[in-house]
Amino acid sequence: MERIDKVISNQVGYSRKEVKELVKKKRVKVDGVIVTNSDIKVDTSINKIFIDDEELIFKKYVYLMLNKPKGYISATEDRSLPTVLDLIDEKYLHRNLFPAGRLDKDTTGLMIITDDGDFAHNILSPKKHVKKSYEVVIDKKITNEMVLGFRDGIKLIDGECKSSELEITGEYSGIVTLTEGRYHQIKRMFGCFGAEVVELNRISMGNFYLPEDLELGEFREFTEEELKKVVE
Ligand code: URA
Repeated sequence: MERIDKVISNQVGYSRKEVKELVKKKRVKVDGVIVTNSDIKVDTSINKIFIDDEELIFKKYVYLMLNKPKGYISATEDRSLPTVLDLIDEKYLHRNLFPAGRLDKDTTGLMIITDDGDFAHNILSPKKHVKKSYEVVIDKKITNEMVLGFRDGIKLIDGECKSSELEITGEYSGIVTLTEGRYHQIKRMFGCFGAEVVELNRISMGNFYLPEDLELGEFREFTEEELKKVVE
């Protein structure tokens, strides 16, 4: 059994003082009964807690999908630049959220933000070979030589890259699929052909896809379908 104010503040991120206020205003119910004292104890596996008639759903972990815009750093904090966490609603920030993987400051697209370390490890570890796909636009025509070079494994100064796919979708555009995530990897791979990346947008990580209706800078929680894939 735990105190109700502690339970609510852990789940929703309100301070104990704020929970007290909610209770005072008769906005909290347990099993349909209005709570009058914020130090009553509840068993979250049995009791149903409601705030303004909305049930508090207990979540062990949070999983968010963000469409990262340019200009944001993939970190939890930075001294001078905005981070991807600056795009997340305050109500999630009492959790120890972090971005699962990095995108360059000028890269856009799918970023998963979570507090589930095991999930992040599984989706990021090169040993798990999880595919990450990126739409790319470069400043030169994409050639078959590039496609073959990516397939055979580009040699960078920090070692040879694993085989990757480059699908040509236009004169200057393609989709690159990697199973590892080295620093500036795609930019450096195209750099080997004297080409510069102009736009880079991540569209998938494993079975998770950037939703078409998620605007740049917007985030949302995983859907039920996506949550099922977390445990797969
Ligand atoms: N490769 C890059 O060069 N940059 C990214 O942000 C991701 C992959």
